[in-house]
Amino acid sequence: MIVERTKLNDTEKYIRNFITRPISIMTQLESKNSVRNDIQPPIEPEIGQLLAFLIRSYHAKTVLEIGTGNGYSTLWLQSALPPDGHITTIDSKRRLHDEAVKTFTESGTINQITALFGEAEKLIPALAQNKPESFDFIFQDAGKYLYPQLLDATVALLKPGGIIVADDTLFKVNDTIRENLGKHTHQYNEVVFADRRLFSTIVPIGHGLTLSLKVKP
Ligand SMILES: C[S@@+](CC[C@H](N)C(=O)[O-])C[C@H]1O[C@@H](n2cnc3c(N)ncnc32)[C@H](O)[C@@H]1O
Repeated sequence: MIVERTKLNDTEKYIRNFITRPISIMTQLESKNSVRNDIQPPIEPEIGQLLAFLIRSYHAKTVLEIGTGNGYSTLWLQSALPPDGHITTIDSKRRLHDEAVKTFTESGTINQITALFGEAEKLIPALAQNKPESFDFIFQDAGKYLYPQLLDATVALLKPGGIIVADDTLFKVNDTIRENLGKHTHQYNEVVFADRRLFSTIVPIGHGLTLSLKVKP
């Protein structure tokens, strides 16, 4: 699906000015991604910086990403990990999975990344059953319809005190093109804010990030 990119506003431009890419291949990947119309838009650098900030401040060592794309966001997550940290990332598109693995190999990050190919709706509940409470930090950036659907299994995978970050959660209010997807992210926001296991907030950066802290098992 071709998704039109929205123009940067002045605030985003201002913030982006300060951001250094932690891995050199990322700048190259950004230029290539910006002219592609065969991938869904990757996260913005200011979102990457915020994810890296959260991972560092939480001292997260085990990270799960749902929606690898071609690996750009995974590199941001990896850049914030300590040497004994590890990321598991999932994507259901073979072509993107293969591209991402190539990027991880070329950037020397592959040792800290397990890239799984498959559908999150199958892999996440299976992981939750086999490895409950095994992740410090979970980044949800796959198909938006999956956000509410996978929430319970995602919470089960998170350690107490861990954080789930979901991307694009303000589609309903800041993106009329993707209004349809906004229904799912709005439902996700409703569910996480009502969930007593979680303490949540929304950061209006990019297309919105919902942050949920697991305060109860
Ligand atoms: C917005 S893109 C991810 C972008 C990536 N996180 C980044 O910022 O570089 C969403 C990704 O979710 C993947 N996806 C969609 N539905 C999925 C599913 N059911 N299971 C796993 N991955 C899925 C798509 O193939 C796509 O690569």
